[in-house]
Amino acid sequence: MTDRFIPITDLRPGASLPVIPSPPTAPTGYLADARQRPLHDLRISVTDRCNFRCTYCMPKSVFDRTYAFLPQRSLLSFEEITRLARIFLAHGVTKIRITGGEPLLRKNIERLIEMLAGLRTVDGFAPDLTLTTNGSLLRRKARTLRAAGLGRLTVSLDALDDTVFRAMNDVDFPVTDVLDGIDAAVEAGFGPVKVNMVVKRGINDDQILPVSEHFRGSGHIVRFIEFMDVGATNGWRLDDIVPSAEVLRRIGERHPIVPIDPNYPGEVAQRWRYADGNGEIGVISSVTRPFCQDCSRARLSTEGKLYSCLFATSGHDLRELVRSGHDDTEIAGAIAHVWARRDDHYSETRSNDTLGLRKVEMSYIGG
Ligand code: GTP
Ligand code: 5AD
Ligand code: SF4
Ligand code: SF4
Repeated sequence: MTDRFIPITDLRPGASLPVIPSPPTAPTGYLADARQRPLHDLRISVTDRCNFRCTYCMPKSVFDRTYAFLPQRSLLSFEEITRLARIFLAHGVTKIRITGGEPLLRKNIERLIEMLAGLRTVDGFAPDLTLTTNGSLLRRKARTLRAAGLGRLTVSLDALDDTVFRAMNDVDFPVTDVLDGIDAAVEAGFGPVKVNMVVKRGINDDQILPVSEHFRGSGHIVRFIEFMDVGATNGWRLDDIVPSAEVLRRIGERHPIVPIDPNYPGEVAQRWRYADGNGEIGVISSVTRPFCQDCSRARLSTEGKLYSCLFATSGHDLRELVRSGHDDTEIAGAIAHVWARRDDHYSETRSNDTLGLRKVEMSYIGG
């Protein structure tokens, strides 16, 4: 059979041209990329807005009153998201993470959760459905999220000290409200919760011990994340990171820790447990110990562009395919075409030369 491709025209600036192989082949439940990495994990950003202005993610100097967030009509609708998610599941995805911006700001997000929870993997199971939030709206929303079928929650928390926390979110949001949100999540039946702390040297690294000790023995799992050069606005410098080895040394000196095996191949976090049985912590070392080798994550932006890497400079416009009337097999073919050619391994090649690239913002593509 000849390998013929029909490019879809897209006149909007910056949009790429997804390609539909002809004839498109139906999904088989397994897709490998150019480095033999399967597609397992879909991260869906549902809004590019956030009520925080974390200095490392949405600095106020850029994301101010004049910043043009996406208009409502640009966003994928819940029906469009669900349709695309169904196609991704047919390709072998088993885990779906809802992100933002702040995903709980998206109106009626519970409805989307309900729709996604109704989908099935190729093996007939419900997908592992999880959401990353800053926790500010959890007290209000935890119960309805649970009732809608959300399986797990990850909460971002960069400090325990209120002054440091308010400075990091840069909107003066009190830490007690996020801690209360985590309690609400537990009351609603989520738990243990994963707590993500991005560590920036000289800004919140004095919070490593307080945060770890606060959650020691709680069942929750804190993961310390090396500050990354995502996007083009956060002014990243190598000196800003605290290598995970140092995080582990600082915690281990106070409370001995021992390494534990990953939960699954390609897990982002390296897991450790307190030797005295008081629970688990993790480190996410995308700078000092890249994990591209097993990266099975696809990202769907708020306006329906498919990104094959967190550090990509352009995406593939699936929304255009959806809105121009293509059927599921054609869209599945376009996704397969992108994934089969995927060769991304940015974290393994990071250098001074890559810092200046115009990468997508994390608030647009999702953490
Ligand atoms: P679960 O195992 O499902 O709980 O989630 P996870 O371990 O994949 O972690 P999560 O989705 O909470 O991601 C935590 C952080 O790791 C993100 O906020 C990013 O900072 C970083 N991260 C996640 N995925 C990637 C990735 O593909 N590449 C890089 N460089 N960093 C990532
Ligand atoms: N480096 C590392 N992680 C980041 N996040 C956002 N920006 C960065 C960055 N520059 C992650 C954090 C946050 C999630 C929403 O995105 O984990 O919890
Ligand atoms: Fe919002 Fe999360 Fe970015 Fe902070 S890190 S600005 S909470 S999206
Ligand atoms: Fe995956 Fe890109 Fe992150 Fe590497 S840098 S782990 S390829 S998303």
